[in-house]
Amino acid sequence: MERRRIGAATLEVGAIGLGCMPMSWAYTASQRSGEGSLRAVHAALDAGASLLDTADMYGPFINERLVGRVLKERREDAFVSTKCGLLVGETHIVANGHPSYVKRACDASLRRLRTDVIDLYQLHRADPEVPIEETWGAMAELVAAGKVRALGLCALGARAQRRAGAGMHDATVRQLERVQQVFPVSCVQAELSVWSPEALEALVPWCASRGVGFLAAMPLGNGFLSGTLTPGQGFEPDDVRARHPRFTAEMMAANQPIVAGLRRVARRHGDSVTAAQVALAWLLGQGRHVVPVPGTKRARWAVENCAAAELRLTDEDFAEIAALPPAQGSWD
Ligand SMILES: NC(=O)c1ccc[n+]([C@@H]2O[C@H](COP(=O)([O-])OP(=O)(O)OC[C@H]3O[C@@H](n4cnc5c(N)ncnc54)[C@H](OP(=O)(O)O)[C@@H]3O)[C@@H](O)[C@H]2O)c1
Repeated sequence: MERRRIGAATLEVGAIGLGCMPMSWAYTASQRSGEGSLRAVHAALDAGASLLDTADMYGPFINERLVGRVLKERREDAFVSTKCGLLVGETHIVANGHPSYVKRACDASLRRLRTDVIDLYQLHRADPEVPIEETWGAMAELVAAGKVRALGLCALGARAQRRAGAGMHDATVRQLERVQQVFPVSCVQAELSVWSPEALEALVPWCASRGVGFLAAMPLGNGFLSGTLTPGQGFEPDDVRARHPRFTAEMMAANQPIVAGLRRVARRHGDSVTAAQVALAWLLGQGRHVVPVPGTKRARWAVENCAAAELRLTDEDFAEIAALPPAQGSWD
């Protein structure tokens, strides 16, 4: 698989990563299987992916333990990116950016991941009660201590900023400028996909101009862009899509032209090419610093997603995707 650099020149990863979240979090719990998930991680590594994206809060903790089982056997094949800063409570998820907490969280992640160094340590959410420079300073000390190789910032809470009338990532860019004064950012993680392209406005260019990598989260639109979900199929109450405004039967039907467009492009590249692969290849075309992290707990989809790195979209393909209707249904 093609390799891409994220941030500092020494951080090289397969162009497509693996999002491990669906193995332990966010989607229907009854469909999860530990053994199936392990097969998916191995399949992705075998197919040339190296970046495994996890977080201490996925599970919580279960996802890191699962990744740790693989790292124990093949640490040299993997680039592990995890996150700290969100605590899962009985009813709420809260941010914690206190320096002492961040250091404890890192030690706990290292133990669960069964490794002595985390390749990319990301701040999952900034804590509004703690100046971000203090949190970032603690993370920089982890680099100095050799427990972490590089730092990243997640910008997934940005929709609320847009609701408040600002550009979706304005506040994130301000945070990035602040933490850069403390220690270099190697990578930013935010939602980016054919149906959620907002990060292309400011965030992706900000990263490109500073040599910062960009991890595209939710690159398949939580599965929608693969075309394997049927409008009205419904989701279990524990699945985020049960509350997601784009996953009502009405909105899934209204957004079918986007899937149809991806399928049209896929057909031009051969019978075996899928809409999901076109969605990932489109992301790879947004800049050499962009690494999509499609999430899956199934080996066959991990392999399919990795194969998207071989797909080269043409100018005609990009133009056709650019002309697709904007997604309907939003959090705004
Ligand atoms: N930093 C953050 O706050 C944050 C937030 C969200 C996500 N993320 C990261 O981004 C990663 C990706 O996001 P995501 O997993 O939510 O969304 P996604 O990658 O857009 O979509 C995942 C969904 O698509 C399905 N899928 C995957 N490959 C497929 C294929 N080839 N054909 C059909 N369906 C396919 C998966 O099904 P199965 O589950 O059944 O395999 C899963 O339900 C996460 O794993 C996580 O690492 C980070």
